Amino acid sequence: MSVKEADKNFVYDPSDPIIMADPFPIYDKLREEDPVHWSPCLKSWVITRYSDVRDPLLSDNLSVNRLTKFYSNLPPRQAAILKDIIHYLNLWLVFRDPPDHTRLRRIMRHAFTAEAIVQMRPNIEEISQILLDRIDRNAVNKVDLIGDFASRLPAYVIMDLLGVPRDMMDDFKKWSDDMSVFIGGARNSLDKYERAADGCQKMAAYFQKLIKERQANPRLGFLMDLINANEEGDTLSDDELVASCILILFAGHETTTNLIGNAARLMLEYPDQLNQLLANPDLIHSAIEEVMRFDGPTNALVRVVSKDHELHGKQLHEGERVFVMVNSANRDPRAFVAPQVFDIRRQQNRHLTFGQGIHVCMGAKLSREEGRVALQALLKRFPYMVLDPDDTPDWIDAMVPRGMSRLPVVVKPSH
Ligand code: HEM
Repeated sequence: MSVKEADKNFVYDPSDPIIMADPFPIYDKLREEDPVHWSPCLKSWVITRYSDVRDPLLSDNLSVNRLTKFYSNLPPRQAAILKDIIHYLNLWLVFRDPPDHTRLRRIMRHAFTAEAIVQMRPNIEEISQILLDRIDRNAVNKVDLIGDFASRLPAYVIMDLLGVPRDMMDDFKKWSDDMSVFIGGARNSLDKYERAADGCQKMAAYFQKLIKERQANPRLGFLMDLINANEEGDTLSDDELVASCILILFAGHETTTNLIGNAARLMLEYPDQLNQLLANPDLIHSAIEEVMRFDGPTNALVRVVSKDHELHGKQLHEGERVFVMVNSANRDPRAFVAPQVFDIRRQQNRHLTFGQGIHVCMGAKLSREEGRVALQALLKRFPYMVLDPDDTPDWIDAMVPRGMSRLPVVVKPSH
């Protein structure tokens, strides 16, 4: 019996609703009993220990380029549907290995400066208040915190960053949601290729127009910085600019939604921690880091084996897909003291939620700021909010992101 056949006895089915709601018990089991697990249902390796997740992200045994093989294996009809989206995704630095990645990152970092991000703080505060006012005005007790707050705030922030008018929100949300069923690895969507292609085409057309306008009428801001970003005379081509805008919008939207949603849910599930935060607002920094670690928005990262190698006695072959399970690594007792305890005062917290190595998140500063401002504004406005006792959250059915598509809460005016 081969190693892969033997692993079939170990049942790990991420689409099981029980696992979707709480994947952590199975991660504990995988980490201890089968840390390099072959999943027949995913047809992929599932790697769960902290150092086994971190180290390959720092090495070149794994590649981020899973598009080339995926695209070349597609039947002609599907390849035709996905032609445009693959064209743009191929220009995303997050899907490129060196040297292409090195070049794109060196140019793009000129736009991702600390000042550009600090300048967004007033926008984040203003958007939080607008959204909370809207909930207040509706005067209903029951609120879906994802739809009414957590998913809107990061979308408006990224739109402000890129200079997209806020009234484009519904279009951008739809295009981004359509793309995410493909990119985030949703399982149960039959028309996911058509939806993703349509979302990508519409978003690309919008950014082509916006970039042309900005080139013709320069105006200070992040988009102008991206257009002007220059590394020894090398700049982003028009296609790379469009692709990068789509990436930034996409990368910064769902991830931060899930951070804010998961943060709110954890605070309501752990009232002792909530009370500590309310009593000592300075804890917001370590609280957001602890949310990232304990139940963060990055469930997994996807890689492809680029060099045959062995890990814990298993042979990983070139071309095989690997899920490095960040949320499992973040609960590994080899790396964290009392990892199953949600402790907003935790000091030693080297979680892997923003990735590691050359692809480490470029928007970490911005999303941390969004998480902190959003959670504080929410708790200040609704200190007596509770999880809806008559309802349960809906979890996102995907391997890569970790979050909810709906979080029902009751916004009580007082105890
Ligand atoms: C809580 C929110 C966020 C989380 C958890 C997150 C997480 C990540 C992770 C794990 C990666 C590495 C992916 C990999 O190695 O395959 C990444 C890359 C990236 N992120 Fe984020 N991200 C967040 C928000 C943002 C925001 C707000 C932006 C933009 C403003 C952004 C822009 C990027 C970019 C451009 C990359 C690609 C970097 C590269 O490939 O070199 N992210 N992010």
